Amino acid sequence: MKILVTGATSGIGRQLAIDYHKLKNEVWAIGRNESQLNELESLGLHTARVDLNDREASLAWFAGLTSLDLAVLNAGTCEYIDLPDFDSRLVRRVMRGNVESMAVSIEGVLPLLRKGVKPHLVGVGSSAAYVPLPRAEAYGASKAAVAYLIDALRIDLQREGIDVSLVSPGFVKTPLTDRNDFPMPFRVTVEEASFAIRQGIARRRAEVHFPRRFTLPLKLLAWLPRTLWSRLAQYMVNP
Ligand SMILES: NC(=O)c1ccc[n+]([C@@H]2O[C@H](COP(=O)([O-])OP(=O)(O)OC[C@H]3O[C@@H](n4cnc5c(N)ncnc54)[C@H](OP(=O)(O)O)[C@@H]3O)[C@@H](O)[C@H]2O)c1
Repeated sequence: MKILVTGATSGIGRQLAIDYHKLKNEVWAIGRNESQLNELESLGLHTARVDLNDREASLAWFAGLTSLDLAVLNAGTCEYIDLPDFDSRLVRRVMRGNVESMAVSIEGVLPLLRKGVKPHLVGVGSSAAYVPLPRAEAYGASKAAVAYLIDALRIDLQREGIDVSLVSPGFVKTPLTDRNDFPMPFRVTVEEASFAIRQGIARRRAEVHFPRRFTLPLKLLAWLPRTLWSRLAQYMVNP
C-alpha cells in the first residue's frame, strides 16, 4: 500500500509510520523536525519537511506525489486555557494547528486518493471531543471540529468509493501528553496506540477509539444532561 502519515516526526504518527513501513508498505512520513525526518529516512521511509499551516507550500508538495491508498492525517497540537487568562490567540493557534492543518491535508491528499487502490482517508481527532473538559476549551473545540469535518466527509466521499475513518484516542504517552500536569487514566503506549489504529483502519471502522476502558465510559457520560455533566466535571476538578 502507498501510505502517507502526517505528524510522523513524533509520538503516535512516528510509531504508525514505522510500523506501516515494517509491514512492507511504501510510506511517506511528513513533519517539520529535520533530525526526526533524517532518522525516519535512514530507516527507509520517504520523508518530507512540510508545514501544514503553509497551504501553498503544502499543496505544492502533495502535487508531486502520484497516488495514495491510505492517508492518516494525524498532525496536531494541544494547548490548555488557564483562567483567568483567556487568550484568543491560543484558541487561534490550536484551531490552526488542528483544524486548518487537517483541511490543508485533505485538500492535498484527495486528488491522490482518487487515483489510489481502495482509498481510505483517516483523520485523527480525540476522545476529548466527546464531553466538555476543564481547560480544554480550545483543544476540545478543535477536535470536535475535526470529528465533524471527518464524519461529514464520510457521507460525501462514499459515492466516490473513498472510505473515511475518525480516530479518537484516549491518553497516549507522547511528548504532547508528557507536558500534562494532571492524571491521565489508562494512558497507553505509542505501540499500543499504533496497533489499535492499524487494526481499526484494516477493519475500515467509521470510528477507531481506544483504549475502550476509557472511551466507552466517556461515550456514556456524553449522554448525561449538560448541567449534570458540568457538576460532575466541577466535582472532579475540585472534589
Ligand atoms: N497523545 C495523546 O494522548 C492524544 C490523545 C488524543 C488525540 N491525540 C492526537 O493525536 C495526534 C498526534 O498526537 P501526539 O500525541 O503523537 O503528538 P506529538 O508527539 O506532539 O506529535 C505531533 C506531530 O504533529 C506534527 N505537527 C504539528 N503541527 C504541524 C504542522 N503545522 N505541520 C506539520 N506537522 C505538524 C508534529 O511535527 P513536528 O514535531 O515535526 O513539528 C509532530 O510530528 C494529534 O492530532 C493529537 O491531537 C493525541
